[in-house]
Amino acid sequence: MKNITDDIIAVGVADTKTDLFEGQYPLPDGILYNSYVVLDEKITVFDAVDKLYSHEWMENVKSALGEKQPDYLVIQHMEPDHSGSLCDFIDAYPNVKIVSNAKVFAMMRQFFGDDLAISEHLVADKDTLCTGKHTFTFIFAPMVHWPEVMVTYDSHAKVLFSADAFGSFGITQPKTSAEWAEEASRYYIGIVGKYGPQVQMLLKKAAALDIEIICSLHGPVIRENLAEYIHLYDLWSSYRPEKSGVCIAYASAYGHTTKAVDLLVEKLHQNGCKDVVVYDLARSDKSKAIADAFRYEKLVLASSTYNMDILPFVSTFIHGLTIRAFQNKKVALIENGSWAPNAIKVMRTSLEKSKDVTFFENTVTIKSALCDTSSAAISALADELCK
Ligand code: FEO
Repeated sequence: MKNITDDIIAVGVADTKTDLFEGQYPLPDGILYNSYVVLDEKITVFDAVDKLYSHEWMENVKSALGEKQPDYLVIQHMEPDHSGSLCDFIDAYPNVKIVSNAKVFAMMRQFFGDDLAISEHLVADKDTLCTGKHTFTFIFAPMVHWPEVMVTYDSHAKVLFSADAFGSFGITQPKTSAEWAEEASRYYIGIVGKYGPQVQMLLKKAAALDIEIICSLHGPVIRENLAEYIHLYDLWSSYRPEKSGVCIAYASAYGHTTKAVDLLVEKLHQNGCKDVVVYDLARSDKSKAIADAFRYEKLVLASSTYNMDILPFVSTFIHGLTIRAFQNKKVALIENGSWAPNAIKVMRTSLEKSKDVTFFENTVTIKSALCDTSSAAISALADELCK
């Protein structure tokens, strides 16, 4: 627990037990489920936490409230990482009013049953709630990340309670916005990446507010250099590259495609292109590879041909891109095949419906192992990538 302002207290929890968030994103440094208590004439709590940490959260809430009773529990998002412990809160504080919108209340009954006994305080978009010094404005933010999501602006403290927006994996406090961006981009692009237009709409609404502190439901409270964090969110949600370098994602059956990638990296470095990240998709965290495919200006895909298709790790990776609305990118293709190389065709076809994806003119076909011809093709590709 810590004070965000003189009367806003963070009462969230750190999850260090869950291995995969949403059953798919590795959590090497855990994840925070943030929750906030606002001590005013009327007391408000923002959001619950994952059921796994219900007991710890309730202890934090009780410690912040002492003998006082909460008047309102604002639910901004019904995904179970935030709403899982809702019923424990209602059991402890049966007179609390649940503040939220119609979609949240409908979803609440889907999760907890029609007989859920709660006192509802229904809000519409831009409705306000005054609790004394604080006035909260509820701003609907559909699809950031589910359709029922809303964020809340506190005009007294100049705090934006931003739900999942500006969230991050990890429980360690990042020292800089660049450090934050590593896990925040993996979180944003993995989880919300498909919904860039909706995030852009939220950023436009946020631009009209005087915000000094962003309190997300995951990751650190942001209170310095807000413009840098908002700029990164603007880049990611508008599918513009954050980095001018090259992201290489590949899989190799017998190591010959790996050698081709190694040679490409060497040539890129020789050409002065230093910002190169490489993912062996069979052995890497694919959520990190997906995030970097979005963040870097250029993407190189390399795969062996496999059953006239591509290696499954590459196929899964490309699917991971396209379901997140991968777009506005220049892609280079490298294939390997001992008798009928076909990976370039498959990879190109897999991306053909992606908006504003274009391909580098140079491609590389390796027949089994690198030879003078394919090595020269890699040099030509490196030249084109560095132009
Ligand atoms: Fe952190 Fe969309 O839940």
